Amino acid sequence: MPASRRGPISPRDRVDPAGSTPDTPLFPGLSSTKRDRACSAPSGANQQPWRFVAVEDPAVKKRIREAAEAEEREFYSHRASDEWLDALRPLGTDAEKPFLETAPWLIAIFVERFGTGPDGKKQKRYYPDESVGISTGLLIASLHLAGLATLTHTPSPMKFLNDILGRPRDLERPFLLLVVGHPAPGCTVPDITRLPPSTTVMYMRA
Ligand SMILES: Cc1cc2nc3c(=O)[nH]c(=O)nc-3n(C[C@H](O)[C@H](O)[C@H](O)COP(=O)(O)O)c2cc1C
Repeated sequence: MPASRRGPISPRDRVDPAGSTPDTPLFPGLSSTKRDRACSAPSGANQQPWRFVAVEDPAVKKRIREAAEAEEREFYSHRASDEWLDALRPLGTDAEKPFLETAPWLIAIFVERFGTGPDGKKQKRYYPDESVGISTGLLIASLHLAGLATLTHTPSPMKFLNDILGRPRDLERPFLLLVVGHPAPGCTVPDITRLPPSTTVMYMRA
């Protein structure tokens, strides 16, 4: 593989934040570099099982919000265990998801679990979740370097995304919904921290 294909993410990839506003269309500013970086991820048997559906259409975003909020209402009122709700409480989330309509872009990410062979038969994909996770991480890193904010959203279950976005239910499973845009003026976020690296990174040196 050429060394440059998955090259380092550099400050050259940044868009000019002064030129972007909450209304700035995302993808023209984003450039194909970011998309191509996500699509350069390593994948099991190089099967590239990621599918990104970038949604700007307000009517489609509205349908996604309505379906997601219906699932989230079930989740917060019945489906989630008390333990799960306790874990979420410090983050202050609830079933209301207005950002699904106000954010300029939603990127629905699907895992292709099966492809279709030349004979029309289903073909299994190998390590699809791992591959799509890596690819999504590269996309998120690229978007952040471009000065954009992202929210990883996982309404559960998410099968409604197949229906709204016309993705085949028997071949693809929704992985997550990435909300992309600029932070709203005056918005606040929970004051949370990360574990110290000594907890999550181990070294075995000679
Ligand atoms: C797989 C995954 C699923 C998540 N699902 C949701 C979600 O459904 N709703 C939400 O508000 N945040 C969701 N998050 C965001 C996390 O709560 C958030 O990343 C974490 O609290 C750290 O906050 P930060 O990303 O703002 O630093 C999810 C994150 C991941 C990685």
